[in-house]
Amino acid sequence: MEDFDFIGLCERRYSCRNYSDLKIEKETLDTILRAAQLAPSACNRQPWRFYIVEDADKRAELLAKSKPAFLAAPVVIAAVGLHDVAWHRPSDGKDHTDIDVAIAVEHICLAAADQGVGSCWVCSFDVEAARRVLKLTEGEEPIALIPLGYPSDAAIPNKDRKPLHEIIRHA
Ligand SMILES: Cc1cc2nc3c(=O)[nH]c(=O)nc-3n(C[C@H](O)[C@H](O)[C@H](O)COP(=O)(O)O)c2cc1C
Repeated sequence: MEDFDFIGLCERRYSCRNYSDLKIEKETLDTILRAAQLAPSACNRQPWRFYIVEDADKRAELLAKSKPAFLAAPVVIAAVGLHDVAWHRPSDGKDHTDIDVAIAVEHICLAAADQGVGSCWVCSFDVEAARRVLKLTEGEEPIALIPLGYPSDAAIPNKDRKPLHEIIRHA
């Protein structure tokens, strides 16, 4: 994989808010889900479940309190954390569910970008609606929704980022 351009992939991943209704092929979705499966997690607990939501009514209910642009995405992945499964650091009890799920979500977003599929992290959603639509049990927490679909606009927005000198410190 000498010529794999990881930074180029990071540049191409952006929060997509313009989706076409083109279907995502099963193999493409499977590749994206494999990336989630490969994510690291504390003590390899893998404290997650990924619910694939394609039904339009369910997507609408899930995203009712999110940006309307996400409704056009043909697939929504709901990333759900399992607090009882996650590693809790013995020294202070810190629950690592959110960290683990976040890594897997970003694997999904990067893998989607690699496949030419648009994605967006969505944490601004109606948690109760998500619990209802996904029929979650008490131990399951919906952490992020990820609308997935082919972008209707090919332009990649400029990255608005703090300069490196502002975020790096040499200790
Ligand atoms: C944890 C998290 C939650 C986010 N929640 C939302 C959201 O609810 N709605 C939304 O439109 N974007 C959401 N975003 C996307 C951010 O706004 C976006 O990542 C940031 O502005 C940088 O832009 P970029 O992803 O295009 O590089 C979220 C991103 C992260 C990492």
